[in-house]
Amino acid sequence: IAPLRIAIAGLGTVGAGVIRLLETNRDLIAARAGRPIEVTAVSARDRAKDRGVDISPFAWEDDMTALAARNDVDVVVELVGGADGPALALSRAALKGGKGLVTANKAMVAHHGLALAEAAEAAGVALKFEAAVAGGIPVVKGIREGTSANALTKVYGILNGTCNYILSEMEETGADFAETLIEAQKLGYAEADPSFDIDGIDAAHKLAILAAIGFGARIDFDAVRVNGIRQVRAADIAQADALGFVIRLIGEADVEEGEGGPCLLQRVRPCLVAKNHPLAPVDGPTNAVVAEGNFSGRLLFQGAGAGDGPTASAVVADLIDIARSEVSAPFSIPVARLAALPPAEPGHRTERTY
Ligand code: NAP
Ligand code: HSE
Repeated sequence: IAPLRIAIAGLGTVGAGVIRLLETNRDLIAARAGRPIEVTAVSARDRAKDRGVDISPFAWEDDMTALAARNDVDVVVELVGGADGPALALSRAALKGGKGLVTANKAMVAHHGLALAEAAEAAGVALKFEAAVAGGIPVVKGIREGTSANALTKVYGILNGTCNYILSEMEETGADFAETLIEAQKLGYAEADPSFDIDGIDAAHKLAILAAIGFGARIDFDAVRVNGIRQVRAADIAQADALGFVIRLIGEADVEEGEGGPCLLQRVRPCLVAKNHPLAPVDGPTNAVVAEGNFSGRLLFQGAGAGDGPTASAVVADLIDIARSEVSAPFSIPVARLAALPPAEPGHRTERTY
């Protein structure tokens, strides 16, 4: 049976993790996918860099866009990062050339997801981005497929592992903000530019993707109201603790009735979370997403939101779906049928307590 042949662009934390996972679980993956998944070509900036995995069996391309033109590649896996630049050029070229695309790049999906989904639909190929939201937690699939019979009333949660690691370390050990951020970078949790994490932008990218899938709406990243955690001090955490709360960076989306019809409220901000709320014990680089459906009730998805292993797990799950030819609309329904929901004004709803 013909293998699924993949090319990987980006061999950093996630890219090397994907190669390691494909190697370690080779037989299990082939059995579940119905055929082997084989890496044929790779690309990154520095060919000579030691990545802790053997890339010598794979063809190397200096120009990553060339991966999209190779005849021995069925699916391109984009693990470079950045909303625009080479990641976007490669992704467009892959879809235009009739190849499937798997990406962990939430910035690119938040900014260009609709255009990429239209290109995938036009070419009849898969576009998948499970790893772009909440690392190893299958929340894209969970919401897109598991709650598809529901009208969702609300989606919210902890969407950035770096911020959650920083806040929970500050809470448990009284650690300094800057030192803890450096530790999160060393552990591979933080973005190339960590201000994306601590200023809430990374969480906003993920929230915009989840909101689009959950509410069947056109993605609207620019409408997300964002505040990060730079201003959170150890004294704030101590005061919250004394009142029975922890502080967590929460992304929240819901559909509200506006004067002209339904509108979408999306915001990311540090919130007080009561110690008996299911999000309060979520610590370290863990993410947790709550989805409330009108028939399912409250669902909680929780697990590792960052790091090589969990993120690689989500990337390879997408590849297994493609190998099995299980391809669904990237944003739950075809782009042409997604609702254009105007942004909601937060109005009186300014409380920051869960
Ligand atoms: P990373 O460790 O910084 O790796 C990025 C890779 O891309 C490196 O191999 C780098 O090459 C290559 N690269 C960067 N710019 C390039 C360019 N201009 N031309 C060619 N190659 C280039 O990043 P990462 O943490 O693996 O993240 C990759 C993607 O996954 C990002 O979109 C990120 O948001 C997403 N993601 C990450 C995590 C996580 O926990 N780390 C979780 C979920 C999603 P060199 O190695 O040669 O420098
Ligand atoms: N920088 C991101 C985080 C990686 O800390 O959550 C996972 O998306």
